[in-house]
Amino acid sequence: MVTSWHSFKYSGVPLQYYTLIFLFYLVFYGFLAGMFTLTMWVMLQTLDEHTPRYRDRVANPGLMIRPKSFEIKFNRSIPQQYIEYVQHLESFLQPYNDSLQEANEPCPDGMYFEQDDVEEKKVCQFKRSVLRQCSGLADSSFGYSEGQPCILVKMNRVIGLRPRGDPHINCIVKRETPLQMQYFPIEGKLDKSYFPYYGKKLHANYVQPVVAVKLLLAEDDYNSELTIECKVEGSDLLNNNERDKFLGRVIFRVKVSK
Ligand SMILES: *[C@@H]1O[C@H](CO)[C@@H](O)[C@H](O)[C@H]1NC(C)=O
Ligand SMILES: *[C@@H]1O[C@H](CO)[C@@H](O)[C@H](O)[C@H]1NC(C)=O
Repeated sequence: MVTSWHSFKYSGVPLQYYTLIFLFYLVFYGFLAGMFTLTMWVMLQTLDEHTPRYRDRVANPGLMIRPKSFEIKFNRSIPQQYIEYVQHLESFLQPYNDSLQEANEPCPDGMYFEQDDVEEKKVCQFKRSVLRQCSGLADSSFGYSEGQPCILVKMNRVIGLRPRGDPHINCIVKRETPLQMQYFPIEGKLDKSYFPYYGKKLHANYVQPVVAVKLLLAEDDYNSELTIECKVEGSDLLNNNERDKFLGRVIFRVKVSK
């Protein structure tokens, strides 16, 4: 009954060889895992947790609208049909409350608000009252009840972005005859003082600039579907990329009935 461990064989190969092979792979994979962990660790040590290391040479933000719908349809005489849009705008503008924004910096217009060397990044104030008729303050329906709705256009945040020139939002209706529109702030300006953005962690409470566009629909514009395209213009930001329809622009449809 006494079988020596060394004499045990499996298909002619002594067991100790299997043990050796097993040990070899154990050490081998252990070594690989160790290498991997070490290089990963070294890599992570060199990363800055606040700014991405690699990004496009020119950072190009997308545009978005509020209310967050690419099909804005309502009958101006039926509040239930637009109440959702209005509520959406109202809640979106909560952080832009004038009284809240009083706590932020009144930054000088037309220049970047550079804070690279500052530990605690400040925020430039953007009061919703600058959106005038589209602020929801004087007209709590944002023009929806009169059938001349406001749409808010915002540009996605990109850390470190410093758009050159005079970035502003411009919208057109896709048809032969133009549509009257009103912009707030004036000329749809995205002021330079809201750039650069330093990221969620460093730049808490940052509010991005918003442009409100009021569609001044005339008699003939009701009951028909309008396709509207808004673009960021006047700067080095891309707005006509073939493949990315949201790069520096946004397209949406509006149909107001009365
Ligand atoms: C926003 O502002 C209005 C009027 O200025 C005020 O009544 C309201 O309480 C404010 N809301 C917040 C969340 O601060
Ligand atoms: C819009 O609502 C009004 C009031 O209910 C109604 O008279 C009108 O026919 C509606 N318009 C359309 C195009 O449905």
